[in-house]
Amino acid sequence: MRVNVVLSPNQVDELYFTGKTAVVIDVLRATSTILTALENGAREIIPVASLEFGAKISANSFGGKIVRGGEKNMRKIEGFDLGNSPLEYTREVIEGKTVVFFTTNGSKAIVKTKFSKATYIAAFLNAAAVAEKLKAAGDDVEIVCSGRGGEFSYEDTICAGYIIKLLKSNDRTLRLKDSAQAALTLYEESAAKLNERVKNSEHGMLLSDAGFEEDINYCVRLNVTGLVPVFLSNSIKK
Ligand code: MLT
Repeated sequence: MRVNVVLSPNQVDELYFTGKTAVVIDVLRATSTILTALENGAREIIPVASLEFGAKISANSFGGKIVRGGEKNMRKIEGFDLGNSPLEYTREVIEGKTVVFFTTNGSKAIVKTKFSKATYIAAFLNAAAVAEKLKAAGDDVEIVCSGRGGEFSYEDTICAGYIIKLLKSNDRTLRLKDSAQAALTLYEESAAKLNERVKNSEHGMLLSDAGFEEDINYCVRLNVTGLVPVFLSNSIKK
């Protein structure tokens, strides 16, 4: 198995993913929120790359069955039902709902992989389950870090490195591209102080300043769910 890490979605275009297996990470907070919503019974998440498209497909809420979630500048968008804090996506709020989901980086990165053979949604919350899924399939994999504004992000790259660490155990056939090796090295250097590292990342500090420190604590927990959601035909399901 060959593993590449796309350090920013801006590195590649949509066609790059054609027929490949992809994993998308946005630890803070999009993929952590998607996992939480599905864990708490959401029917599906429809990620969108533009607010206009999101508004179009959610124009009819079908009696509240379709809700709008996500953020702009970390805050709930006007007219939306939910923001991008995973803590908002409780079972009481989300069970049975379809979430049309827009975020600044994460939802766009997911949509970018739409021509993939399969795209798995990953975060620290489900890293071990993702690694197991990838091992079982045995395909080459592209791990996409959603980053921030097209730039490298610390927390997504550390999470990519953690998944690689888990893939690597007992697998002598694993071939790491340099980006994957760099992510692994970053993870190994950060493992003992994960919470601190993520909090001190650019996005971590912005979230703390905006009053979302609890979200960071929530998102840095390892392997609390066995869910590995798949993005297929425009929809993310468990
Ligand atoms: C994103 O997609 O950019 C994020 O999830 C931003 C956020 O923390 O809300």
